[in-house]
Amino acid sequence: MASTTPAGLQIRPRHLDFNLPKPLPRHWHGGDAFKTHLFDSMSVLFPDGERFFIDSVRQFRDQISDPVLKEQIRGFIGQEGHHSREHLEYSNRLRDLGYDITTIERRAQARIRFTQKKFSPQRQLAATAALEHITAILADGLLQNPEALAGAHPAMARLWRWHALEETEHKAVAFDVYNQVCGSRKLLRRAMLMGTLFFFLDSTRGMLHMLKRDGLLWNWRLWRDGLQWTWGKQGIFRPLIGAYLDFFKAGFHPWQHNNLDLLAKFSSEFEPAASTAA
Ligand SMILES: [Fe+2]
Ligand SMILES: [Fe+2]
Repeated sequence: MASTTPAGLQIRPRHLDFNLPKPLPRHWHGGDAFKTHLFDSMSVLFPDGERFFIDSVRQFRDQISDPVLKEQIRGFIGQEGHHSREHLEYSNRLRDLGYDITTIERRAQARIRFTQKKFSPQRQLAATAALEHITAILADGLLQNPEALAGAHPAMARLWRWHALEETEHKAVAFDVYNQVCGSRKLLRRAMLMGTLFFFLDSTRGMLHMLKRDGLLWNWRLWRDGLQWTWGKQGIFRPLIGAYLDFFKAGFHPWQHNNLDLLAKFSSEFEPAASTAA
């Protein structure tokens, strides 16, 4: 089992233009409100969340002497910065549809401000490493399982695939920095429990808000089908449970889940020639 990031892994931001549809189809995921808002509610948390990730890693940048990790930090910051910008654009599309995105953003911003003021830089980095594991397993699920984006608007599916690809590439950067500057597993596990709770709470609240605006909050069929799609026997989240729990094991490293094959499989879609053709 690999306990380090694979040698030769390139982490470079791809500067792409996604031309998100304007207006955004309200239920861009195959006309399904549950699936659409599941993605939307995570997306609105990304711009502030990813800026927090960048800040957490940047605080320790000068303490890293390994030139390979230094280069990976540069790649990580570039990728997250670009994700943040694209998801901000996505949030604006949602705002145009009448959702109260500002309230959701303010809640996330207040939580981040609190974390940055009250918690040590080590704890902030632990939170980043933990949340990066959550995004990494979600990204893996999205790339492994075509069902996750089946029927979605092509531009939206492309945006999510791009994000998932880069999350996979840089999944161990914050973790490797954390190991070099702190390394406490106890702190890391605690950060994961807190991170999971708030990620779940905040994304659920966002989703409830959007479904309420659509007048679909009490539609039992939507919940039945949506919960089946996520947590049912063939549910898209089901296979991620084991990978999530691995984080709590002694000696865990993100690349123990070796999914380098996904990088080879999906990166060609975002080569310069492919992106101009798309
Ligand atoms: Fe990201
Ligand atoms: Fe990330």
